[in-house]
Amino acid sequence: MNLILMGAPGAGKGTQAVKISEKFNIPTISTGDRLRSAIAEGTEMGKLAKSYMDEGKLVPDEVVIGIIKDYLATDACQNGFILDGFPRSLPQAEALDAMGVRIDAVLSIDVPDEAIVERMSGRRVCSCGASYHIKYNPPIKTDVCDKCGSALYIRDDDNAATVQNRLQTYHNTTEPIADFYAAKGKLIRVVGQDKVEDTTAAVLAALANV
Ligand code: AP5
Repeated sequence: MNLILMGAPGAGKGTQAVKISEKFNIPTISTGDRLRSAIAEGTEMGKLAKSYMDEGKLVPDEVVIGIIKDYLATDACQNGFILDGFPRSLPQAEALDAMGVRIDAVLSIDVPDEAIVERMSGRRVCSCGASYHIKYNPPIKTDVCDKCGSALYIRDDDNAATVQNRLQTYHNTTEPIADFYAAKGKLIRVVGQDKVEDTTAAVLAALANV
């Protein structure tokens, strides 16, 4: 299955990508994770990306299109993949089309803005990639990763002002691509639930028909 995951910042794309990946045994690429790795490594791409991410803006299309193009050429995704957070603009969606990549479904996880703000303020992440929420998905020991024992931290772009900018960017630039995929008959909408497992059940039920 070649799948795109869409949804507002904090809608639960990363959380559900883990579940879908386990269920269908396909890898995930998150452009956000790739960009954060580049920042941590101090690369030129990372330095450029940080200036946009800190303001809640999209990183220039050519940067993320390059990341995806390289990834889709690897063996890892030849039996299917999940694109978490790509495409996020019409030029990105058109670039993916131009690569000749078959997309089976575009799954949009729909969550109201008010719920997003609460989710982002409670998110805690680990450098190993694990993600938690202090109320909805707490680690066993406060601020310690269940998987690797490292200290959890708050992402730089999860502060209230940046979250508002990210939501605005989502509504203005990313949400319109839902129409692009609806016109191709690829769009599936799932309402994000209050509990992670309820959203997973809805997501897997929706994908059973793909
Ligand atoms: P990215 O890292 O992709 O951030 P995002 O899209 O804003 O999404 P998040 O990772 O914040 O949230 P998520 O939907 O994965 O939710 P999660 O599962 O963590 O991108 C960051 C930045 O990189 C962008 O702002 C942009 O600058 C740049 N970028 C990335 N891709 C780009 C592109 N293609 N083009 C240009 N720029 C790009 O869940 C959130 C929280 O909620 C967690 O704490 C979780 O535990 C909790 N939670 C999840 N599900 C539930 C539930 N059902 N009920 C209750 N809590 C839940």
